[in-house]
Amino acid sequence: MKDSPAKVIGLDVGTSRLVAARKDGADFKYESQLNAFVNLPFSKVTENVLRSEKIPFAVAGKEITVFGNEAARFAELLNVEVRRPMTRGVLNPEEPESLAQIRRVVTALLDEDSTGRKVCYSIPAPPSGCEENLTYHEASLRQMLTDMGCETQSINEGMAVIYSELQDTNFTGVGVSCGGGLCNVALAYMSVPVLSFCTPKGGDFVDSSAASVTGELANRIRMVKETGFHFNGHYPDKVQQVLSVYYDEMILSIIQGLRDAFEGTRSVPRIPRPIPLVLSGGSCTPPGFKERFGKLLEGSTLPVQFSEIRVAADPLTSTARGALVAGMAE
Ligand SMILES: Nc1ncnc2c1ncn2[C@@H]1O[C@H](COP(=O)(O)OP(=O)(O)O)[C@@H](O)[C@H]1O
Ligand SMILES: [Mg+2]
Repeated sequence: MKDSPAKVIGLDVGTSRLVAARKDGADFKYESQLNAFVNLPFSKVTENVLRSEKIPFAVAGKEITVFGNEAARFAELLNVEVRRPMTRGVLNPEEPESLAQIRRVVTALLDEDSTGRKVCYSIPAPPSGCEENLTYHEASLRQMLTDMGCETQSINEGMAVIYSELQDTNFTGVGVSCGGGLCNVALAYMSVPVLSFCTPKGGDFVDSSAASVTGELANRIRMVKETGFHFNGHYPDKVQQVLSVYYDEMILSIIQGLRDAFEGTRSVPRIPRPIPLVLSGGSCTPPGFKERFGKLLEGSTLPVQFSEIRVAADPLTSTARGALVAGMAE
């Protein structure tokens, strides 16, 4: 019905995962799908099974493409890598079907009842040197969602983290999202965006760098990283030690990015009091990440003081939740 208020959905459009957040009474509800796909040989039986299991898929000629969470399981079974519609935070220019692929995953997340919904979706900060990729990415997503019958709004990912996690300081502080493709950072003062940027060194960078040094497959490295890695200064094997080196690089490039962003603004914003910094995203989940971040931050000089460093209560959903908060406020 036209006159019922549009329901709002917060959508984290991440390189590795798409997460949708909705309000369910007083609670938040989340659903996520891997932002990935894999091709299987076509058979009528497979097609029927996928349909009955409500798994997003598409048929093209002799192939079936499976999207989302099941793509990873099939890839593991068949010992192939999943493919991704996005790379480094934006639509992958080497996948001509990237928009259509993302649409399948988004459709699965929106439960096919997108009409009349308002979707507030996250976008990365402009990657320095290729800003036009972001313009294309944002406009393509807007077009896709509009075509699906949704009203749209976009939000910078670092700002989404601030909306999600820094209500208690009236949205004053730094939001950091350490994802797979990128790390996104924003600083806001009383909800006003002061600066934002992204760095290309996220979890994928850690995986591929550690893979090339150790001669392992990136996927194997990722599994070690996600199940057994923690920062404690004693590393039982080579892989763990190499992981720690590239994690440090990831953190240092965030700190360097902050310094550059302050220097790049015309007049250095003077923040009158210490502000909190909140970490989120899949890459900040290994135990000890916060302490390591704090340690590396100690050794740096920045024109801002931090009152505390905290990790989001649920690092994997904060961007989606912040997008929802922003969408509901407008
Ligand atoms: N338990 C974990 N420990 C370490 N890294 C993890 C863990 N879970 C996920 N990751 C990493 O987090 C990254 C994905 O984070 P996410 O916030 O979902 O990314 P994106 O915003 O790119 O979609 C990947 O590099 C993944 O390997
Ligand atoms: Mg993300």
